[in-house]
Amino acid sequence: MKKLKVAILGSGNIGTDLLIKIMRSEYLECGAFVGRNLSSPGLAKAQSLGVPVSSESMGFIERNPHCCDIVFDATSAKYHHEHAPVLERLGKIAIDLTPAKIGPMCVPAVNMHECLGYMNVNMVTCGGQASIPIAYAIGQTQKNVDYIEVVSSIASKSAGPATRINLDEYIHTTELGVQKFSGAKRTKAILNLNPAVPCINMQTTVMAKVDKPDLAALRPALDRIVGTIQQYVPDYKIIVGPVVENGRIVVMVRVKGLGDYLPAYAGNLDIINCAAIGMAEEYAKNWEKLATGKNGFKPASREGTA
Ligand SMILES: NC(=O)c1ccc[n+]([C@@H]2O[C@H](COP(=O)([O-])OP(=O)(O)OC[C@H]3O[C@@H](n4cnc5c(N)ncnc54)[C@H](OP(=O)(O)O)[C@@H]3O)[C@@H](O)[C@H]2O)c1
Repeated sequence: MKKLKVAILGSGNIGTDLLIKIMRSEYLECGAFVGRNLSSPGLAKAQSLGVPVSSESMGFIERNPHCCDIVFDATSAKYHHEHAPVLERLGKIAIDLTPAKIGPMCVPAVNMHECLGYMNVNMVTCGGQASIPIAYAIGQTQKNVDYIEVVSSIASKSAGPATRINLDEYIHTTELGVQKFSGAKRTKAILNLNPAVPCINMQTTVMAKVDKPDLAALRPALDRIVGTIQQYVPDYKIIVGPVVENGRIVVMVRVKGLGDYLPAYAGNLDIINCAAIGMAEEYAKNWEKLATGKNGFKPASREGTA
């Protein structure tokens, strides 16, 4: 099968880890790795891997539209708001790794097929990718989910400047995602950037207030969804729970990555990048059907839900 060409915008932690993973894909090949600063370590890494690079940002894709069919945006939410309409005009599918939430929110273990065919797909956040499958299992098995709180801790070293600039967007997008997929009445998201050395593994705790917790119903639903995630992130693991503590259901997961760009502690890169690649590979497998279909690709829905 001919590989589908993709470009990566943003040469930081997320973009560079994504590139290394895409180079192993059977369905995708990287036609351009695009940043805004030729001296960035990510562009140097891509050059050393023999990938075409540019520091001309979106201008490069506008002048070289044949370099790709899909663009992964790993810059920041502010820039994705500028890039999205240009990509749509160029007819490029945008897989958005920033918390801009222009397109439908995609968590592959839950709703990948609903998102297929949109011009813009939003991969929520790293904390969202780690917590939403758990929140979804809670929503599917518990009565009256009143409140869900998700707390993620990641190594400070793995959060690039754009992640720090996007903290408000992270909170808002994660809260919205948890609410959409669980049906909870109220949600709260917290992100801790932990500066400890040696670096800590990514961990996410999900706490839920529900009527009469039913752990017997929850356990098999969690086993199923964790098994699905482990197909793309092998070291995604429940390390606590489900237990009931002070009347709340508690589940804690630890996410370790493959150590492609940063060491394995940075599971926050893997949990969103593997989800984004899974989505792009689904486009690649269905490309002929989608591109030649009667209605073509669907424009992004502004409210960020599908
Ligand atoms: N790190 C995580 O754990 C994580 C997880 C999930 C999602 N995210 C999201 O992913 C995005 C990137 O995060 P990150 O941690 O990888 O940050 P980062 O290391 O700062 O990477 C962002 C990169 O994008 C480049 N850039 C910014 N604006 C650009 C533009 N208009 N055109 C081309 N390149 C541009 C930056 O260039 P310079 O080098 O010149 O600044 C930088 O190399 C953020 O939106 C973040 O919220 C991060």
